[in-house]
Amino acid sequence: MVIAIDGPAGAGKSTVARAVAERLGFTYLDTGAMYRCVGLAARDSEEPAGVVASRANIAFHDHAVLLDGEDVTAAIRRPGVSDLASQVAADPEVRKALVAKQQEIVATGNWVAEGRDIGTVVAPDAAVKVFLHADPEVRAERRASQLNLDVQDVLAKQRVRDERDNTEGRSTLEAPPGSDQVDTTNLTLDEVVDAIAALAEAKR
Ligand code: DC
Repeated sequence: MVIAIDGPAGAGKSTVARAVAERLGFTYLDTGAMYRCVGLAARDSEEPAGVVASRANIAFHDHAVLLDGEDVTAAIRRPGVSDLASQVAADPEVRKALVAKQQEIVATGNWVAEGRDIGTVVAPDAAVKVFLHADPEVRAERRASQLNLDVQDVLAKQRVRDERDNTEGRSTLEAPPGSDQVDTTNLTLDEVVDAIAALAEAKR
């Protein structure tokens, strides 16, 4: 079974996806981490980003992310890498390569996959498709307090990323058809996890 969780940056996708996976005993797939890996690798490479993406060996071990055998868990979370990731994610060749890898990963087993295009492109047949959203100010506040940054600064950068992430096939600000929408603005993590677990239960 695949549970697809999509939505804009700061809507709570990774926290929620991780918690849902833990609750249901599923494996968590963070597709944003894969774009972050390619952003990092492409920065240090002469090759086009699409080639870098198709060659990159990205693996998840427990809570660590490995890029060509190197532990990049902390490196991919640095603020500059968000921008690199968002740039390579706009490249169709990069998307093609990573979507193929993601489809291979979720083909067997039970997954909670989180990103921007899971319910639309990576796993359109997912049993459960959830679109998370939250008010832009709340999203920026969450990210700022997570990373200890200035809220106004985060809000300004979030606007730029939202716009770039909003290209065809990964409309991050609108729920795709057939998805269940959950607005996390006024919900606790437990309430969101309960709602998604109930959707999964209904499909089992
Ligand atoms: O969720 P995140 O911040 O780790 O994602 C990093 C970047 O990758 C972000 O700009 C959106 C992009 N992304 C994407 O285009 N498609 C996905 N499935 C996941 C992330």
